[in-house]
Formats: sequence, structure tokens, C-alpha cells
Amino acid sequence: MTYQITIQPSGHHYSSKPSETVLESAIGAGFNIPYGCRNGACGSCKGTILSG
Ligand code: FES
Repeated sequence: MTYQITIQPSGHHYSSKPSETVLESAIGAGFNIPYGCRNGACGSCKGTILSG
């Protein structure tokens, strides 16, 4: 099972496994997403879920 994620407004999309965070799967798919701590403390990777 995978989840399909679309980044807005670019429209780029990738798949994420249930065991991955959105950030982990974005990095694994080769996207250059801003982040800092990778554990939820800094907010650098914060985004908004538009649907799903
Ligand atoms: S990288 Fe996501 S909260 Fe710090």
C-alpha cells in the first residue's frame, strides 16, 4: 500500500509508504524540501494537507 502525494502549487507528485513521514518520502523521491530537525521540533518542513 502506498499513498499518493501531490505538492502544490508545483503539481509534482510521489508515493509514500505508510511507515514513512511525508518529509522522508519526499526526500527519498529526490525532492528538495526545506527541513531542519527531521523530528517535528523546528517546523521547517511544515505544510498543509489540502485533501485526503
Ligand atoms: S524538519 Fe520538520 S519539524 Fe523540523
